[in-house]
Amino acid sequence: MAMFSLHLPKTAARFGVRRTSVSANLVPPMEMWGQPLPEKIGSAPLDWRSLGFEYVPTKSHIRFAWKDGVWDSGHAFQDPYLPVHMLANVFHYGQALFEGFKGFHTKNGDVCTFADKLSWQRLSHGCRRFRMPEVPLEIWENAINETVRDNVSFIPPYGTNGSLYVRPFLFGSGPRLGVGPSTEYTFVVFVNPVGSYYQTDSGAMQALDGLVNDTYDRAAPLGCGDCKAAGNYAADLESMHAAKRLGYPISLYLDARERRYVEEFNTSNFVAITKDGRYVTPDAPRSVLDSNTNKVLQQLAVDLNLPVERRQIDFEKEVDSFAEVGAVGTAVVVTPIRSLTRGNQTWTFGEPKVLRELRDRVRAIQNGEVEDKHGWMRQIKLDDAPRDKTVLSVYPGL
Ligand code: COI
Repeated sequence: MAMFSLHLPKTAARFGVRRTSVSANLVPPMEMWGQPLPEKIGSAPLDWRSLGFEYVPTKSHIRFAWKDGVWDSGHAFQDPYLPVHMLANVFHYGQALFEGFKGFHTKNGDVCTFADKLSWQRLSHGCRRFRMPEVPLEIWENAINETVRDNVSFIPPYGTNGSLYVRPFLFGSGPRLGVGPSTEYTFVVFVNPVGSYYQTDSGAMQALDGLVNDTYDRAAPLGCGDCKAAGNYAADLESMHAAKRLGYPISLYLDARERRYVEEFNTSNFVAITKDGRYVTPDAPRSVLDSNTNKVLQQLAVDLNLPVERRQIDFEKEVDSFAEVGAVGTAVVVTPIRSLTRGNQTWTFGEPKVLRELRDRVRAIQNGEVEDKHGWMRQIKLDDAPRDKTVLSVYPGL
C-alpha cells in the first residue's frame, strides 16, 4: 500500500511525536514505532474475535482546521494528542459534535463504510444548530478515505465479527472569552477497531433489563436532543450510572414535558415490535437523536412488509402491546431489551425474533453477503486510488 509522502509544513515541529510525555497505553504500541508493520487488512497484532468497544490505539488520525471562513487542506498525524488552546470554545461553551459509523471488510474483499453519508447529513444539521461551519462532503469523504487507508492494518478481517468504527468529530478550537461561536474549528477523523458493545462470550445478542428513568430528562422538547452533540452524552452520564447502581445496565427516557411518551435509551433509539407485527418508534424530532441505524432498520422493516409507525408512544398505555423491544444504534445495531421497570412495576418482553431478523439483515449487508439495495455501502479503494490531494502527512508511514 502506498504510504503518505513526507511533508513538513511549518506546523510540523509543534505537532512532533512526544513519546516520552504520554502514557504508554494511550499511544500506538511501542513495537509499531520505527519498524514497518505489514500494512494489510487485519495485520495489526490484535485478537480480532475478542474486541469489545474500547479504545485501541491506531496508526494515525486526520484533521482539518477552519479559520477565516476556509478549511485547510488537512494533515495526518500519528500523535493521538491534540494541541488545543485552553480557551477553546469546546471547553467552555461546548461547541462539539461527533459522529460514528462503521467500516467493514466484506466477503468479496472490499472495504466499505456503512451509511456514512447519513452521518454527514446529521453532522451538517448539528453544525447549523450549533453555529459551526459545515464540513463539505468532499472533505468528509477524503478524510474518511485517507484515515481508513492509512489504518488498513486495523480493519478487522471478514468473518471475525469485528468492524472499524469511524469517529469523526468537530469542535470550536479557537480561543474565545465572551460567549459566541468560535473563530476557529477543528475536524478530526480517527478509527478504532471494535467488536460488540455489550459483549457476550458467544457473540450472541445480549438482552438487557432496563429502567424507566423518572429522575432525569435527557433533552428538552425544543432542545438539541436530535443532534449528536457531546454535551448530550455528558448530560446522560449520571442518569446512566444511577440506573446501573440499581442494577439496570440501560435506562429509558420519557418525554421531559409529561413523562409519558417514550423518547430513547441512554445512547440508543427505542424500537418496539408490537404483538400484531408493527415496527413502532418515537417521533420527537427535536429531542430524540436522529438515529441512522433506526432509519436503516425502518427501511428493512418496510422491505419485510412490516408496517412502520414513527409516532408518539404513550408508554404506560402501550407497553403491554409490545412483543419485542430493542435499543438501536451504530455501536450495537440492536440490543434486545428483556424487561422494563418503572417504580414497582416490571414489563417483560418476548424473544427478539423480528429484531434479530432485522439485525441479521443489516449485518449481512455490512458484510457484503447480500445485495445492498439501498446504497448504504460506500467502497473505499485501498490500493489503486490516487492520493486525495487535500490530505498531507507530517510523518512518514510506519
Ligand atoms: C452508537 O450507538 O453508536 C452511539 O451513539 C453510542 C455511543 C458509542 C456514542
